[in-house]
Amino acid sequence: MIHHPCTTRLIAPSLLAADWSRLPEECSRAIRAGADWLHCDVMDGHFVDNITFGPQFIECLSKTNDIFLDVHLMIERPDHFLPRFFKAGADGITVHVEAQHDVAETLRRIREARCQAGLSLRPETDFARVVPFLDQIDLLLVMTVVPGFGGQPLIPATLDTVRQAKAWRETHGLKYHIEVDGGITQETAVSATQAGANVLVAGSSLFGSPDMAAALAAMRSA
Ligand code: DX5
Ligand code: ZN
Repeated sequence: MIHHPCTTRLIAPSLLAADWSRLPEECSRAIRAGADWLHCDVMDGHFVDNITFGPQFIECLSKTNDIFLDVHLMIERPDHFLPRFFKAGADGITVHVEAQHDVAETLRRIREARCQAGLSLRPETDFARVVPFLDQIDLLLVMTVVPGFGGQPLIPATLDTVRQAKAWRETHGLKYHIEVDGGITQETAVSATQAGANVLVAGSSLFGSPDMAAALAAMRSA
């Protein structure tokens, strides 16, 4: 696994917005376009009001692609499913602070499995909820829309959380990446990166673009 510093801008196309009837081609399209990571949204129909895919799907991706798989678990019991995602070949695993688990223990297990440990919070969740764990993570994923569906506009107030995360990182000498997810376009990429985000997840704005390489490059330099 390549470890990037939190100052490097990374672009992670979200497969949720890909054409699932041509998945191998869509993965190749994202990789050819210059994607750094592939963002994979796992949803269980409980934590969010949608169902996507599980470990078996991640295993297919990891067998057929070398790219870093950034797995975002929007599931109620991430602790229960962790071993299956390790085995499937996830490179980074992000769990929600609002889910039903011992957060510190889950993060410890992710690091022990030599995966990148990510923690996420929903737009309405106070930054204070993640503070106790910030010294135990590689990445903080700030949801910039209500999780569950792609294609929603970014909620501007979530960028305050990004600012708080950046300020905390500086004050405490920490190194976690700050990732934003939801409603990221070439325009919102500017405000998100100005607020302090360095990892940009984008579904509709990248997979929906006829020229993904150009869209991705624009986002990288936004
Ligand atoms: C939403 C997912 C996102 C989603 C973003 O719950 O976590 O990763 O794919 O989609 P866009 O970029 O279309 O808002
Ligand atoms: Zn996501």
